[in-house]
Amino acid sequence: VPRPAIVFIGFMGAGKSTALAAARSAGLETVEIDDLMERELGMPIKAAFERFGEEGFREREAEVVGGLLDRADGGAIALGGGSVLSPRIRAALGRHTVVWLQVPAKEAWRRIAHSNRPLATSAEDVTRLLETRLPLYEELADAVVPPGDRAIVERALPSIRALAELPQGTKLLWASSASGEYPILVGRGLLGAGWWPLDSRRFCVSDSNVVGRFGSAIGADGTVEISPGETEKNLTTLEEVISSLANLGMRRDDHLVALGGGVVGDVAGFAAHVYQRGVPVVQVPTTVVAQVDSAYGGKTGVDVLANKNYAGAYHLPAAVLSDVETLSTLPRTELAAGFVEVIKTGLLAGGRLWERVIEAADLEGADWPEIVWECARYKCEVVAADERDDGLRQVLNLGHTVGHAIEGATLYSAYRHGEAVGLGLLAALRLSDASDLREAVAEILDRQGLPTRIELGREVDTEVLLAVLQADKKRTAAGVGFVLLSEPGAPRTGQLVPDDEVRAAVEELYG
Ligand SMILES: NC(=O)c1ccc[n+]([C@@H]2O[C@H](COP(=O)([O-])OP(=O)(O)OC[C@H]3O[C@@H](n4cnc5c(N)ncnc54)[C@H](O)[C@@H]3O)[C@@H](O)[C@H]2O)c1
Repeated sequence: VPRPAIVFIGFMGAGKSTALAAARSAGLETVEIDDLMERELGMPIKAAFERFGEEGFREREAEVVGGLLDRADGGAIALGGGSVLSPRIRAALGRHTVVWLQVPAKEAWRRIAHSNRPLATSAEDVTRLLETRLPLYEELADAVVPPGDRAIVERALPSIRALAELPQGTKLLWASSASGEYPILVGRGLLGAGWWPLDSRRFCVSDSNVVGRFGSAIGADGTVEISPGETEKNLTTLEEVISSLANLGMRRDDHLVALGGGVVGDVAGFAAHVYQRGVPVVQVPTTVVAQVDSAYGGKTGVDVLANKNYAGAYHLPAAVLSDVETLSTLPRTELAAGFVEVIKTGLLAGGRLWERVIEAADLEGADWPEIVWECARYKCEVVAADERDDGLRQVLNLGHTVGHAIEGATLYSAYRHGEAVGLGLLAALRLSDASDLREAVAEILDRQGLPTRIELGREVDTEVLLAVLQADKKRTAAGVGFVLLSEPGAPRTGQLVPDDEVRAAVEELYG
């Protein structure tokens, strides 16, 4: 059986030649399609476009490149920017590892404006052309590499090559933000594949619901087990984790594995940040909340009494393995609570993801690999633009201001994180004066059996809730800044809202 090749796709100016050079220095045999075509045709591509027209060129390209991809046995290939337009070529990509190198239109134009590429005509044309190609790149990519410096592919290459050893259908997102880069792998059966992203000894932190199910797949040199639940996300647990790791003999050159939901991820991530002044952490999320949201972006921390996430740190993971297989043992209530973070992401991103949220019916049968992948990509794009939460990243707090206050006011005893955020979304949409959207979200929550009002037996004292809200971490001297949103895809951050409106939006939840 011929081995898969690594095939770089992407727009003109995305850095495909640079990527190929990285593959060559890693010892791979490489082919650049633009060069190959020029040799085949005996003329520069621009001349071929003029002689045969774009259509004639594409026909010839489909034949040559399709044949090459069919025969390829390992190695690396860089396609032309428009090669993916051909169905013949798209079909031939199926068995290969397809790597999409992303580039913003502006940057692409800067790089190609003075080249003699036939389609590099103007900044506007380039922007339009890129827009039409995006869905194709999106659909074909097994790995996504965001815009970066010239060496980004060199750094991502070991993870890209690992895809050949991982289960069919596994996708790789190379996450990149100000303080670092790391691979995110999303797929089914990652834990059973016998592959691990770091070579050093590993120590695992997990909770007692999870460790028995998936602990052995980690192959750790030692494991620390905590009790499950948000009430364990505190400084006492943190101290216990740190002293247990010390007792197990964990050293600075070892790494930590956070195996579990958002609680384990936050506690273990924080422990990794402070253990002997910092060790790497591999996040292995096993809940929907963690796979669509909390495992990425490096925020870690614990609650301090009613104040949610009051002690914490930014500590980017060294890698994230989102094995969606693990979601199959999640109780339905947790699946539904996790879905609230998907609703949030759908509201923020709009477009296809919001469509998915509206259409989602039976959560057990949902296309989780795709949902996790899309949410991870959205979150990482936001974090890439603003890792330290000074601006854009605040959008991720949609619904969390009131949500966190509900959690804190009940000392984490009455509602799951996701359920509280669901109620928080309703309050945020009221404050946004978006009644129809609020209705739509209430209907989606209701369909999944999630609360749409503060329920009997799960009461929250309004005054306590409002007091906790005032202590929100996002508070500045001017007041608590809300994320508001009037239509999917268009969030606004840092919106100050008069106290009486906040009170009314919260009181409506008792309706
Ligand atoms: N750091 C961030 O950026 C970020 C983002 C969003 C949420 N969070 C935090 O995440 C936490 C919520 O996470 P969560 O909803 O995953 O809660 P959780 O970690 O408490 O997990 C929920 C429950 O599911 C169990 N469980 C986990 N995986 C399982 C599996 N595969 N099968 C069966 N049971 C399983 C757990 O033991 C627990 O009882 C909150 O503390 C929230 O603040 C953090």
